[in-house]
Amino acid sequence: MKILDGKKISNQIKNEIAFEVEGMKARGEKVPHLAAVLVGNDGASLTYVGSKVRSCKKIGFDSTLVHLPEETTEEDLLKEVRALNENDDIDGYIVQLPLPKHINEQKVLMAVDANKDVDGFHPTNFGKMALDMDSFISATPFGIMELMRRYNVETSGKHVVVIGRSHIVGRPISILMSQKGKAADATVTLTHSRTKNLKELTLQADIIVSALGIPHFLKADMVKDGVVIIDVGITRVPDETLEKGYYLAGDVDFENVSKKSSFITPVPGGVGPMTIAMLLKNTLLARERHRN
Ligand code: GUN
Repeated sequence: MKILDGKKISNQIKNEIAFEVEGMKARGEKVPHLAAVLVGNDGASLTYVGSKVRSCKKIGFDSTLVHLPEETTEEDLLKEVRALNENDDIDGYIVQLPLPKHINEQKVLMAVDANKDVDGFHPTNFGKMALDMDSFISATPFGIMELMRRYNVETSGKHVVVIGRSHIVGRPISILMSQKGKAADATVTLTHSRTKNLKELTLQADIIVSALGIPHFLKADMVKDGVVIIDVGITRVPDETLEKGYYLAGDVDFENVSKKSSFITPVPGGVGPMTIAMLLKNTLLARERHRN
């Protein structure tokens, strides 16, 4: 069993980006500038956005946090988005999800300038990704592909079973894995809550990508020997004996499934750090495209 160490690989990627930024500074060029919009005070979102902003500082990017109150109206948020579209100093930005219920998420994501959409959530970027055109690929699926690539995990001709059809992970990773090319070429089965014979399918899988959000859902009797496990789940499970009041759990029963796996991502320290690294990578790309 080999750990797919997302923390280690994300640090490598961040060092590579920091090196690029050094070069930009040395040449007197503008450095990439990422903005993040956060509406409200959801605990997990605050943690994620804080981590994104800190990572920017560490690698030499400029960063701006636009933190709006929970009661912000859709119209006011759209105004903020338009201002970011027009602000030439900002190369890329994200609107942290989920948004409060009174705001139409699709409407907001549609308003983001596709050239600054470093999350890759705009239909233009999603569509381009699906058509093998240059685009911004969403950070989580992009991070999964990059993690597997750096560990030389073979995907060509393999059967990948994806659990979960979210727009952010399940759907895009199923497209990327099925694409033509050296880092993909897999046969993909996309499963979800209405799938009838999930265990039958996971038992056939060479690679399982679980993006479900149910702690310890995937058990050892659902996988075959030698399977590659990518655990995207990261759920806060309440535990009052801990100082934080919770612990983070993946979708996979790591203790038992890891014994049957050839490669497996831990939670935390697997896919999560890769997501941040690829967001930074997309922001660097946005800066380069913006300049050209
Ligand atoms: N919420 C959960 N994951 C993400 C992400 O990758 N980007 C944004 N903007 N919000 C999220």
